Amino acid sequence: MTIFLFSIFSLLFSLLHNSLPVHSFPTSSKLEERTFIISVNHNAKPSIFLTHYHWYQSSLNSLTSNPPSKQVLHTYDTVFHGFSAHLTNYEANLLSKQSHILSLIPEQVRSLHTTRSPLFLGLETTSLNTSSLLEESDFGSDLVIGVIDTGIWPEHQSFNDRNLNAIPSKWRGSCPSDFPCNRKIVGAKLFSEGYEATNGRMNASSEFRSPRDSDGHGTHTASIAAGRYVFPADTLGYAKGVAAGMAPKARLAVYKVCWTSGCYDSDILKAFDEAVKDGVDVISLSVGGVVVPYYLDSIAIAAFRAVQNGVFVSASAGNGGPGGSSVTNVAPWVTTVGAGSIDRDFPAEVVLGNGRRIPGVSVYSGPGLEPGKLYPLVYAGNRESGDGGGGGEGYSASLCLDGSLDPILVRGKIVLCDRGINSRVAKGEVVKEAGGIGMIIANAVFDGEGLVADCHVVPATSVGSANGDIIRKYISNKSKKLSTPTATIVFRGTRIGIRPAPVVAAFSARGPNPETPEILKPDLIAPGLNILASWTERVGPSGLITDRRKAKFNILSGTSMACPHVSGLAALLKAAHPDWSPAAVRSALMTTAYTLDNQGGIMKDESTGNESTVMDIGAGHVHPQKAMDPGLIYDLTTYDYIDFLCNSNYTTSNIELIAPKKANCRGAKRAGHVGNLNYPSLSYVFVQYGKHKMSSHSIRIATNVGDPDSVYRVKIIPPTGTNVTVEPEQLSFRRVGQKLNFLVRVQVEAMKLSAGSSSTISGAIIWSDGKHSVTSPIVVTMQEPL
Ligand SMILES: *[C@@H]1O[C@H](CO)[C@@H](O)[C@H](O)[C@H]1NC(C)=O
Ligand SMILES: *[C@@H]1O[C@H](CO)[C@@H](O)[C@H](O)[C@H]1NC(C)=O
Ligand SMILES: *[C@@H]1O[C@H](CO)[C@@H](O)[C@H](O)[C@H]1NC(C)=O
Ligand SMILES: *[C@@H]1O[C@H](CO)[C@@H](O)[C@H](O)[C@H]1NC(C)=O
Ligand SMILES: *[C@@H]1O[C@H](CO)[C@@H](O)[C@H](O)[C@H]1NC(C)=O
Ligand SMILES: *[C@@H]1O[C@H](CO)[C@@H](O)[C@H](O)[C@H]1NC(C)=O
Repeated sequence: MTIFLFSIFSLLFSLLHNSLPVHSFPTSSKLEERTFIISVNHNAKPSIFLTHYHWYQSSLNSLTSNPPSKQVLHTYDTVFHGFSAHLTNYEANLLSKQSHILSLIPEQVRSLHTTRSPLFLGLETTSLNTSSLLEESDFGSDLVIGVIDTGIWPEHQSFNDRNLNAIPSKWRGSCPSDFPCNRKIVGAKLFSEGYEATNGRMNASSEFRSPRDSDGHGTHTASIAAGRYVFPADTLGYAKGVAAGMAPKARLAVYKVCWTSGCYDSDILKAFDEAVKDGVDVISLSVGGVVVPYYLDSIAIAAFRAVQNGVFVSASAGNGGPGGSSVTNVAPWVTTVGAGSIDRDFPAEVVLGNGRRIPGVSVYSGPGLEPGKLYPLVYAGNRESGDGGGGGEGYSASLCLDGSLDPILVRGKIVLCDRGINSRVAKGEVVKEAGGIGMIIANAVFDGEGLVADCHVVPATSVGSANGDIIRKYISNKSKKLSTPTATIVFRGTRIGIRPAPVVAAFSARGPNPETPEILKPDLIAPGLNILASWTERVGPSGLITDRRKAKFNILSGTSMACPHVSGLAALLKAAHPDWSPAAVRSALMTTAYTLDNQGGIMKDESTGNESTVMDIGAGHVHPQKAMDPGLIYDLTTYDYIDFLCNSNYTTSNIELIAPKKANCRGAKRAGHVGNLNYPSLSYVFVQYGKHKMSSHSIRIATNVGDPDSVYRVKIIPPTGTNVTVEPEQLSFRRVGQKLNFLVRVQVEAMKLSAGSSSTISGAIIWSDGKHSVTSPIVVTMQEPL
């Protein structure tokens, strides 16, 4: 894996240092193959070829001597023109010299944005109350949400089609003949050619060669976006209640691209291609990878063309938080969604032998610990044998990695394991196999105090970093008179009405935007912590192969779960406002988002308990009812995004990879800078070259979507130490659809910063007509030159 990533990075490096999109690839590893996504001037097809596929295959055939050995994996003809193929660098070089080849983009492997994924160290759907939006009986039923994920469990009650009208006539998608689609699941396709080109043929007895979900993630996200009402729903007795997606009447189209070893760009691109052709209205993508320039990112390219076709694309921000600059899926035409908590949790506290009680969370259910009894407690990472040490290699044992625990030292005990490397539920399995009877998972320092509840296979709970230290100290206390440290875990079930809520989930990825700091990302947050939604019948709720429990619903956490909340909401907004562009939908969600929690204070960051910032939450937490009637919107067209790319100083050939034949930067260069993109948030980046005042300005264009005659006045909350002015301070609209411009000017003074560091301060501008409040966050970043 590491080697693969390294080679991708070195390749990208060479790509970035070459102004042309066609490159020469390093020849050192002649035989190492990887998948490339190949952009082609598709209009140049010679007429002797019947189809583009034949032409592309012939290009590949010319690379190798007889017999031809390279196959086209996918051809693309909707959001992208070209094909993908698995090639050596030598072959890639040869191919790039053919005149119709525009560029070769090396494939990235993406992962699911759930915190269950071992790669991350680190609504209840009714939590967003959409009931007042759903009064009309068939509200949202003309809309199709495309979910690009691990597939779906189609027989689940959440996907029944009772009382649903006929499939919308515009729909062009399809399902395999042996797959039980219905009026709810109106499309289902799978794409594995890219995955199998790298990994060899899939093991069809451990994953389905069908849109059926063997993982559970895709079933979960699909039901969050558009699951129907199911009562009662619960996981192992936790979180009992009604389960429903955001848009229960909307249709689902499933595009399965994620397999046991990841989600491959060549397959994801094909899914976008098909989804747009099929006629989806919304694409939901809870998957991500490393951030690269937009023209090298096939998801960004595919999303651009989807948006150009009027499709709203929401994507998860990633789970790389709480560190800064961790946000992914940052293209300005994508809606980037971070994760917050809901007002529900699952307390499971640790009681130590010294009487101390330590808060934790868990959704374990099954044979429990004996009430009132204390069990011996060991820290798997203690090297000293005989002193409660878990044995094995200290480091791997501290993390309870597979095979690292010595059964002699662990049997009959509760084991403290550090979070990281393997998944949290897998640690429980390791403890169980070694004969342990319970487990406490302690966060690492960088996880902070953020807790995620899991369906463990042993009695287990998760505690924060500081509390983990307390337990470790208790275990290793040399001065204690009594010999063995002891503990138990008390499971307290489901608790609702938690305050404060929402808080920003510790894992939720944060700004600033690593690619374009002038565009604030994430855009907003939605529920993504301990979310109850539907589950596959293929695996138990822990997702472990050995877990034989069955659960119709499961509780998962991640920005993966936040993204489909926004996808479902976008479908509802499109149903209410069929003429709104994807940017208008996003604007409505952002300008009406809230930043206060249920105690009336600024939303907190779970990892520190401190107040969150715009880098954590973007515009704030989505508010479904308010988003229906935003008053004003900040709209954007394809041409605005092209101006943005021009002003980002991308070359014309790079821009043409994203927007073919559209790139014309002459006008755009005059229009100024990237901050002029008519975005619902405002981000200004200043580099301090001296101790003087600096200023910047940007233009915004507001479109009236409220009452025909309305007068908005501005309220400015300047970031501390700055002066912000808005001209004019009043916007008087005469009709719906009318657009009025205003100019925002920001003045700052140099501030004390250490070399290479930066500081961000934030404020807001709020347009109000007495009925609507249209809020845009303003963030100012001051950087010291390196
Ligand atoms: C949801 O919203 C509706 C209408 O605003 C309200 O009547 C209902 O009580 C709300 N339900 C919950 C659970 O907050
Ligand atoms: C395929 O998966 C099954 C079920 O998980 C497993 O028993 C079998 O060993 C696997 N086969 C291969 C070739 O990996
Ligand atoms: C260690 O044990 C001693 C004696 O029981 C006790 O006074 C002390 O508070 C303990 N320290 C910790 C960190 O638990
Ligand atoms: C949290 O707030 C405290 C007190 O204001 C401050 O000392 C600390 O640095 C803050 N932590 C972070 C990570 O910002
Ligand atoms: C683009 O280049 C111009 C001129 O060199 C520079 O002033 C501007 O800051 C650059 N913009 C970005 C987004 O890099
Ligand atoms: C803001 O305006 C005040 C009053 O005009 C002025 O004294 C101050 O220097 C300005 N601050 C900045 C950062 O421009």
